Amino acid sequence: APSAPDLVERARAAKEALGDKVFVLGHHYQRDEVIQFADVTGDSFKLAREAAARPGSEYIVFCGVHFMAESADILTADSQQVVLPDLAAGCSMADMATAEQVAECWDVLTDAGVAGSTVPVSYMNSSADIKAFTGRHGGTICTSSNAKRALDWAFGQGGPDTRVLFLPDQHLGRNTAVRDMGLSLDDCVVYNPHKPGGGLTAEELRAAKMILWRGHCSVHGRFSLESVRDVRERIPGVNVLVHPECKHEVVSAADQVGSTEHIIRTLENAPAGSKWAIGTELNLVRRLANRFAAEDKEVVFLDKTVCFCSTMNRIDLPHLVWALESLVDGKVVNRIQVEPETEKYAKLALERMLALP
Ligand code: 13P
Ligand code: SF4
Repeated sequence: APSAPDLVERARAAKEALGDKVFVLGHHYQRDEVIQFADVTGDSFKLAREAAARPGSEYIVFCGVHFMAESADILTADSQQVVLPDLAAGCSMADMATAEQVAECWDVLTDAGVAGSTVPVSYMNSSADIKAFTGRHGGTICTSSNAKRALDWAFGQGGPDTRVLFLPDQHLGRNTAVRDMGLSLDDCVVYNPHKPGGGLTAEELRAAKMILWRGHCSVHGRFSLESVRDVRERIPGVNVLVHPECKHEVVSAADQVGSTEHIIRTLENAPAGSKWAIGTELNLVRRLANRFAAEDKEVVFLDKTVCFCSTMNRIDLPHLVWALESLVDGKVVNRIQVEPETEKYAKLALERMLALP
C-alpha cells in the first residue's frame, strides 16, 4: 500500500487534473487528512447551500455521510454527479427512521384524528425517503442551525391545535421546543417505532404539541450530565458549549448550545484567555483545540470517553484518492442518485427549508 505522503500527492494531483470539473465538500466532522482537500467546509446547512450553488461543477465529491450526499444530489442539477467516497459512510441516527416505520406512524396519527393538524419537520439527518414523506405532507427539513425557524414556520401553518411530528432526532426536537419555543417537557411525547401505536394513546397524541421520533445520535447521545459537572470541577471558569443533538439534561447544564458552525464562530469571537469544553464530534474539537491554542484559548473535549463518529471516519484519504483518481480516468464511482419520484418531494421539503426567513 502506498504511504501517506504518496496519497497526499496523489490527491493533490488528481484534484489539479480535474480542475473546475470537481468540487469537494467537507463536513466539519471529517478527518484532517480529508478536510485539507475540501474546497469548502461547513455544517449540514452550509454544505447543502454550497452544493446548490455550484451549477458549474460536473462532479461533487461529498466528504460527509450518505444523507448529506443524497441532499446534495437532490439540490443539484441532474447532469451533476455526486460521489460519496465510501458507501459505508451512513448515519445511525438517519437509520433509526425507515420509510415503512414513518408511514405506519402517519397511519397511527390518522387513526387518532390528528394527522390533519400535524406538520412534519425532519432533521437533515434523515434518508431521502423521509425527506420525501415530509415534502408530501406539507412539512419542511431543518438543520441544527435553523431548527427554531423551522418550528416557527411549522406552527404557523395551521390553527392553534397544530402539532409537529419531529423526525428522527428526539433531542434536537426537544431542545428546540423547550429552549427556543417556550414549550414545556410535558408538551412533548416520544413516538417509539418499535411499539404498537408508537407506545402512545390517542389522547396523548391529541394533547401533544411535539411528537418526537425516538431517534438519537450515537455520538452526541453519549455526553452526560456527569461530564459537564466533571469539566466544571476540573477547569474552573470553563464555558461549556454543546451541540443540540446532546440530551436535554446536558444542554440544560451547558452554557451555550449550537450547530458546528455556531461552535466555530463562538470560539472565533471568544476573548484570549477563555476556556471552553466542547460537546461535539472529536475530529472537529481536536482541530479547534489546535487552532485556538495559538490564540491562547483553551479548548477541551467535553467527555474523554466519547469517540469519533465512526461513519464520518469511513471517509479517509485512500477512499478520497480512489474516488478522485477514478474521476480522472473518466469513471464515476460511488455515485449517489436519488430516484426521481423521491427526489421531487424531498426537494420540496428541502426548498422550504432554504426559503425559511
Ligand atoms: P451540523 O453540522 O448541522 O451541526 O450537524 C451535526 C451532525 O451531526 C451532522 O451529522
Ligand atoms: Fe449521524 Fe451522529 Fe455521526 Fe452526525 S455525528 S453522522 S448524527 S451518527
